[in-house]
Formats: sequence, structure tokens, C-alpha cells
Amino acid sequence: MKGFIFDLDGVLLSTDELHYQAWKKVADKLGIPFDRTINDRLRGVSREASLEIILEKYDGRLSAAEKEDLCNEKNEYYKELLHTLNERTILPQVRETLKDLRAQGYRLAVGSSSKNTKTILQRTELDSCFDAVSDGNNISKSKPDPEVFLKAAEYIFLDPKECYVVEDADAGIDAAVAGGFYPIGIGPASHCAAAKLKIDDFTQLKDIARYGSGNAR
Ligand code: BG6
Ligand code: MG
Repeated sequence: MKGFIFDLDGVLLSTDELHYQAWKKVADKLGIPFDRTINDRLRGVSREASLEIILEKYDGRLSAAEKEDLCNEKNEYYKELLHTLNERTILPQVRETLKDLRAQGYRLAVGSSSKNTKTILQRTELDSCFDAVSDGNNISKSKPDPEVFLKAAEYIFLDPKECYVVEDADAGIDAAVAGGFYPIGIGPASHCAAAKLKIDDFTQLKDIARYGSGNAR
């Protein structure tokens, strides 16, 4: 293996919680029941597809323009929350693990559905930790389609079979499998049957990188 492709939200930092808070505001305004269990289904899924999942519990009908307004509204709330991020938001062990992987000679990329990826990487000063970024702005199909990871692999000049994908979302694990990558599940995705390897601590990646995938636990 020669590379690692990291999902962003819920893997490198806890922006999954900020997505939840922003959607919660929209759902509350419409009187739609929305909780963390439903939110888990939004992991890795595009903004528009997330809204459709939330609207499953909505009785009324919305036009395409109204849906677009709701997506924009959610994103405005989300962007306000992103102002709370800075370099101290990233756990020291995450930054240290990324440095270690790079020192071992691995190429590192981000593969995220989010159109806010670059803002987040800049605010947290994570941008210098990666060789390439593939995100919601360079894809036409969101996870579980493998496009975002295939682009990431291309940007670091590697074949999918040479790359681990680290994901907290079932949709992301499915995308990794579909693209021919080696999927590693963390957080909620550590329960995902399709994850070839399940870790509960980001630092375990150092040993996986050093000794191979048989050494996660
Ligand atoms: C993914 C998140 O990383 O990005 C999803 O897990 C989110 O919850 C998606 O919907 C799109 O993000 P954004 O920032 O473009 O709305
Ligand atoms: Mg995620």
C-alpha cells in the first residue's frame, strides 16, 4: 500500500456534529422530527440527498426552488458554525498520526463530499498535511459512488488498490469498496460489515501503515 485517503467530516475532525446542529435548525423550523439516529444516515451523503432523507418525515410538498433555499439556509448555519474552528480543533494525535504516515512515505489525500472542505482544511491548518484534496466541488456523484475517492487516487498518482480509505460513514465504505480501495471504518462505520478493518482510535493507522492491515488491534 502506498497511500491513505481520508474522509473529512467525522474522521479528521468532529464537523459531523456541526452538520447535525445546522440540519437540526432547518428541521425544527419545518417541524420535522430529526435526531442523531437519522443524522447518522446523512454521513457522507451530499447536501441535497441529506435534505431528501430529512424530508421523509415531512407531510407537505416542496418545490425544487424551496428545497434549494433550504439547502442554502442549512449551509449558511453550517458556515457560521465553521467560524468556531481553528488549528486547536484538530486533536494532537490526529496531526501527529498524519505526520507519521507521511514520514513513512505514504501519500495522503482527502476525499470528502463536502463543498466546504478547503475552508475547513485552511481554518484548522490541516491543508499542509495532505498531498491532494478531492471534494464536493470536483465531483458529479456523491458517495456511495466512488468518484470522490477515484479522483483523490488520481491526484496522488496511485491506483485504488494501493490506497486505504478511512471513513466514518457506511456510504463512504460502500464507495471505497465500489472503487476497489481498502476500506477502514472508524466511529459509526466501525460497525459497517463492508469495512475490511475496524479501528476505534485514529493512531492505530500508524501501525497499520508500518506492519500491514493485520495489525489494527
Ligand atoms: C459530508 C458529510 O462529508 O459532506 C455530509 O458527511 C454532508 O453530512 C456532505 O452532507 C456535504 O457537505 P457540504 O459541506 O457540502 O454541505
Ligand atoms: Mg464522514
